[in-house]
Amino acid sequence: MKIPFHKACIGDNEIESVVDTLKSGWLTMGPKTVEFEKRFRNFTGARHAVSLNSATAALHLALKAVGIKPGDEVILPTNTFIATAEVVTYFDAVPVLCDIDDKMLNIDVKKINELITDRTKAIIPVHFAGTACDMDEILAIAKKNDLFVIEDAAHAVPATYKGKNIGTLGDITCFSFYATKTLATGEGGMATTDNEQYARKIKINRLHGISRDAWDRYSESGDWYYEVVDNGYKYNLTDICSALGLIQLEKLEWMRDKRAEIAGKYTAAFKDTVIKTPFVPADRESAWHLYVIRVQNRNELIKKLKEKGISTSVHFIPVHKHPYYKEKYKFIDSKYSVANACFEQYLSLPVYPDLTDVQIDYIIDTVIKYAR
Ligand SMILES: Cc1ncc(COP(=O)(O)O)c(C=O)c1O
Repeated sequence: MKIPFHKACIGDNEIESVVDTLKSGWLTMGPKTVEFEKRFRNFTGARHAVSLNSATAALHLALKAVGIKPGDEVILPTNTFIATAEVVTYFDAVPVLCDIDDKMLNIDVKKINELITDRTKAIIPVHFAGTACDMDEILAIAKKNDLFVIEDAAHAVPATYKGKNIGTLGDITCFSFYATKTLATGEGGMATTDNEQYARKIKINRLHGISRDAWDRYSESGDWYYEVVDNGYKYNLTDICSALGLIQLEKLEWMRDKRAEIAGKYTAAFKDTVIKTPFVPADRESAWHLYVIRVQNRNELIKKLKEKGISTSVHFIPVHKHPYYKEKYKFIDSKYSVANACFEQYLSLPVYPDLTDVQIDYIIDTVIKYAR
């Protein structure tokens, strides 16, 4: 049996929607993107949703919107995809890495205070695997120290924290619609915020700093005149991607329920074994983007599973271990003892709606057989 690590859940409706867009003659940011933003805004409950071509772009423009400057420090967890740290470096600002908690593998809120200096400007919590960070604590620290909170929610739609949707908590929340994500448009992202100024800045900066987007200018109600009011970027989403996104959004909760069901089966089967299963506190609902287990023989298990046709992945190689970052920012490995210990043990199992019961049972049996 061959089981890929991920398979996007794309059906006839997505295909029809994309074909309709191709036939419409309007391929770049236009009516579908406007509609996608509106529906995403309604879905999360945020006042504003601005689409972008990646979460990396969303994080970049979010930091720009709140005014990050050279020399500023931004605190983020070391267990994340490199994009979270990389965007900070775009400003010649400094990524300050925080260790993670042993249970959720999210930023350890107890260790944030000791990293705050008079140069600290923002915190980027990452809702790892789709489970929200301890947001009450993070928001309280931010308020006390006058810091911005930019959430990296690349894994976290749909997800909740104490009954509130991710996308409505921090100053700006950044989502990813990359091919393997819970809502996939191939490449894509969204920034949500309740702050009109931030939304406006992100909107202008996603298209060269131009005061009006192409849809505004070329649609029937449009006009040719525009002004460049900031030095922006080319970060807009296309209508082809939004056509996909609109359909994915319609079935987002159904897909999450499917993943949650698979996660539940894994967790039940791994109970009373050597396998450590993910922890989701009772006050939050995970998006289950990843199902991360911990074992003592991680490398050997990955190899065995591969031999048996099961692809897995590792999330993540901590930022402080990557040579470029280690050398440039002089990160000291021993400061991240929890992340280091977890990194030796974790691997991610396949978790997506198209997995069949036969495949799920096969994964469970094989993992239990070879895990130590
Ligand atoms: C935690 C995290 N942040 C940011 C990103 C970047 O997302 P994108 O590929 O949409 O730029 C990813 C992508 O894998 C991620 O996992």
